[in-house]
Amino acid sequence: MSKPRIGIVISTTREGRFGDKAAAWIHDIAAARGDLEVEIVDLRDYPMGFFDEPASPLYVPPKDEAARRWGKKVDELDGFIFVTAEYNRAPPAVLKNALDYAYREFNRKPAAFVGYGGVGAARAIEQLRLIAVELQMAPTRHGVHIGGADFMGMFMQGKTFADMAHLEPSAVTMLDDLAWWTHALKAAREESVAQAA
Ligand SMILES: Cc1cc2nc3c(=O)[nH]c(=O)nc-3n(C[C@H](O)[C@H](O)[C@H](O)COP(=O)(O)O)c2cc1C
Repeated sequence: MSKPRIGIVISTTREGRFGDKAAAWIHDIAAARGDLEVEIVDLRDYPMGFFDEPASPLYVPPKDEAARRWGKKVDELDGFIFVTAEYNRAPPAVLKNALDYAYREFNRKPAAFVGYGGVGAARAIEQLRLIAVELQMAPTRHGVHIGGADFMGMFMQGKTFADMAHLEPSAVTMLDDLAWWTHALKAAREESVAQAA
């Protein structure tokens, strides 16, 4: 089996966002493992309009050009780490919109989460796990929550991830969980394709 490909999705796009810092941090930890091919997928590179299509992408391919490229990228990947903020206790609208713009491309793939905010985006991530189930994904039990003083220290007080070594064990646990599901589901998807041929 080829090395599974994991997309680390930066889920916010506003100028001055924190999301790219958290994505770079988890990218470096994931890349150092050696068992996963990891890449950053920045939603800024897929500037989709608000969903305005005749039907779900399950039935009709999107007309929106950026959404078509997004669907292709999702299709290439075997698993996902959504790096997410919490906007009004929910996932950022840009991320929800992107999730609405693909369907089959997400099916039977795992979704893990790195959240940041007052409570480490725990409330947004719980909603994302439900959305992932509808997309026929396997959301992992373990996530990374960068909250409270850790988040405020980096957001407001000039600290960086170099000061946050205590967050690494939760990143390792989440990545172990994601790697297990990614290998298992990739093997199962490949087996289904072989049986259908
Ligand atoms: C519209 C909006 C709503 C927010 N709501 C929440 C919230 O519900 N919970 C929270 O912990 N932080 C909230 N925040 C603060 C964010 O955690 C903080 O701005 C964070 O940096 C946003 O992520 P970003 O920098 O990647 O955009 C909110 C920020 C914005 C802009």
